[in-house]
Amino acid sequence: MSSLTPLSQLHSLFNKPHIAPHFTSSFFLTRFHVSATVTRGALVSGMSMKGAVVVSAMTVEKPKKRYAGESKGFVEEMRFVAMKLHTRDQAKEGEKEVKEPEERTVAKWDPNFDGYLKFLVDSKLVYDTLEKIVQEPVYPSYAEFRNTGLERSTTLEKDLQWFKEQGHAIPEPSSPGLAYAQYLTELSQKDPQAFICHFYNIYFAHSAGGRMIGKKVAEKILNKKELEFYKWDGDLSQLLQNVRDKLNKVAEEWSKEEKNHCLEETEKSFKLSGEILRLILS
Ligand code: HEM
Repeated sequence: MSSLTPLSQLHSLFNKPHIAPHFTSSFFLTRFHVSATVTRGALVSGMSMKGAVVVSAMTVEKPKKRYAGESKGFVEEMRFVAMKLHTRDQAKEGEKEVKEPEERTVAKWDPNFDGYLKFLVDSKLVYDTLEKIVQEPVYPSYAEFRNTGLERSTTLEKDLQWFKEQGHAIPEPSSPGLAYAQYLTELSQKDPQAFICHFYNIYFAHSAGGRMIGKKVAEKILNKKELEFYKWDGDLSQLLQNVRDKLNKVAEEWSKEEKNHCLEETEKSFKLSGEILRLILS
C-alpha cells in the first residue's frame, strides 16, 4: 500500500501515541522492526508512557513480549488501517485528505435520486458476488462466512422491487459495480487474504458509514423511507461480533506476510467502494 509506507506510518503513529497500543503483531510490528532502528531515538522521545511500552515490546531485543491490543486479534489491525483511510470529514479517526466528492461530510451531500438507484443496483451486484463466493467456497475458510446474518443481497432485492412498484425503472449495473464484482471473483480464486480484506471492509463499512449515508439520503430524497438494506434481523452488534470472531480465527492460520498482504489490500477496497458510493452524487 503506497500511502502506508513504513516510515510515514511510523511518523504518523508516533505523533499519536494514544493509538499505538492498538497495534498487534504482523503489519505494524514488522514495519516497526525495520524502521525503528533508523528513527528509534526520535520516536521514543515523542511517546507517552503507554506508547513507550509498545516500543520496548517491539525492539529486536525483546521480540516475545506481549503488548496491549494484541489479544483483540487481527480484526483490530484491519480496522486500524481502514479508519486511517477515511477522511476527517467521514470519521473522527480518518486521516486522508478529501479528494473525491463522496469523501466530504455526508451531512453536506446533495444526493441524486437516479444516482442512488444506480448505487443500490451496483451494491447488489457486489453483495450477490460476495455471497455467492462464500456459498461456493474455493478456499475452505470462506465457508466460515456463510449465513452470518450480515448478507445484503436479499434486502437489496426487496428494495429494488419497492422502487419498481413505485414506478421507477431499475437500471442495469454500471461500471463501478461490474468492475468490483469482477475483481472480487478473480481475487477470491487466487488470493484469499486479499479477498477477506474486501469481505471485512464491505460488510463493516456498510454497518457504520453506510448506515449514516442511508439515513441522510432517506431524509433528503426518499421522504425518510427506511430501506431494507439498512435493516438486519437480530442484533447487529452481535452479528458483527460473531463475524469478527470468525475473521480472527481464520487469520490465526496466516503468516505475518499473509496478514500484511491482507492489510495492504484495504486501500483497493476503499477505492472500489468509493467509486460505487460516488454514484449517489452523480
Ligand atoms: C462516505 C463514506 C464513509 C463514511 C461517512 C464512513 C464513516 C465511518 C464511520 C463514522 C465509522 C465508525 C467509526 C467508529 O467506530 O467510531 C466507520 C467505520 C468503518 N468504515 Fe467507514 N465510512 C465511509 C466509507 C468507508 C469505505 C469506502 C470503507 C471501505 C470500503 C469503510 C470502511 C470502514 C470500516 C471497516 C469501519 C470499521 C467498522 C467497525 O469497526 O465496526 N468506510 N466509517
